[in-house]
Amino acid sequence: MIYEDLEGKKVLVTGSSSGIGSATAVLFSRQGCFVGVHYFRTKDGAEKTLEQVKKNTDGLLLYADVRDEKQVDEMVEQFARGAGGIDILINNAGSLIDRQPFETATVDYHDDVYATNVRSILLVTRSALPYLKKSKGNIVNTPVRSVCIHIGSVAGHTGGGNGSGIYAGAKAAVATETISMAGEFAPYGIRVNSVLPGFIETRFHERFSPPQRWKEIAEQTPLGRNGTAEDIAKVVLFLASEAAGFITGEYIAVNGGLYMRA
Ligand SMILES: NC(=O)c1ccc[n+]([C@@H]2O[C@H](COP(=O)([O-])OP(=O)(O)OC[C@H]3O[C@@H](n4cnc5c(N)ncnc54)[C@H](OP(=O)(O)O)[C@@H]3O)[C@@H](O)[C@H]2O)c1
Repeated sequence: MIYEDLEGKKVLVTGSSSGIGSATAVLFSRQGCFVGVHYFRTKDGAEKTLEQVKKNTDGLLLYADVRDEKQVDEMVEQFARGAGGIDILINNAGSLIDRQPFETATVDYHDDVYATNVRSILLVTRSALPYLKKSKGNIVNTPVRSVCIHIGSVAGHTGGGNGSGIYAGAKAAVATETISMAGEFAPYGIRVNSVLPGFIETRFHERFSPPQRWKEIAEQTPLGRNGTAEDIAKVVLFLASEAAGFITGEYIAVNGGLYMRA
């Protein structure tokens, strides 16, 4: 799959040391993009992603805790300087962190989930905004300059389960803020959309779901399997491309039919 209009674009993918972010970074590199490969705790994972990226094009290794304003500003600045701007921002970094039901959840856990999944999107997007506004755009005859994509979750629709309700609330906020940002940034020519993954086989579920759960969910899924990181990356790529040039404030659920709605 090649989207020719993406060639040469400067793409920053947060949380690309693992899973969905890593697959997304590699897929963008196959389109000829310059890719910012970002990590926090998993430097070796990010190095492996960058190695893959460099088989196709070029990129930069970037470090930041996305909960931290100063670190985010430095990371975004480092990428923009190294790449010569930012055309596409993928806000993918996020985590369930733990499973804590509302009955026993700690305030620290609650705040960390929101800082990791929601504050992070404010910090990275706000910091990248001046560059996204300056991007030259890839689409002739439309005012669209640049693109911002958030990774939400099916949990934002369903409320999650088994101690993931607070995370579900945070991902619902991501979906709603996608719409708000799409309205606010449209005059700048920036499209903003989100992708809502279902059950995707990455480190996320290696940490938080037992093997039996993987099997159960695959059996409950109409398309008969769990998702892969590449399933999500391909949809992110579509939303970033000219093929989605008139789409903003929208989400695409990628879950094999696990959650369907009219
Ligand atoms: N897997 C699923 O079924 C699923 C379903 C719905 C939504 N999602 C969402 O998809 C996104 C990617 O998840 P994944 O499945 O690919 O999980 P993953 O393999 O665990 O990757 C998570 C990524 O987020 C980064 N990250 C987490 N906390 C961070 C922090 N404080 N600062 C900076 N980076 C941080 C991690 O970086 P380091 O490891 O370097 O710290 C890692 O690169 C997340 O937003 C997740 O909520 C996943």
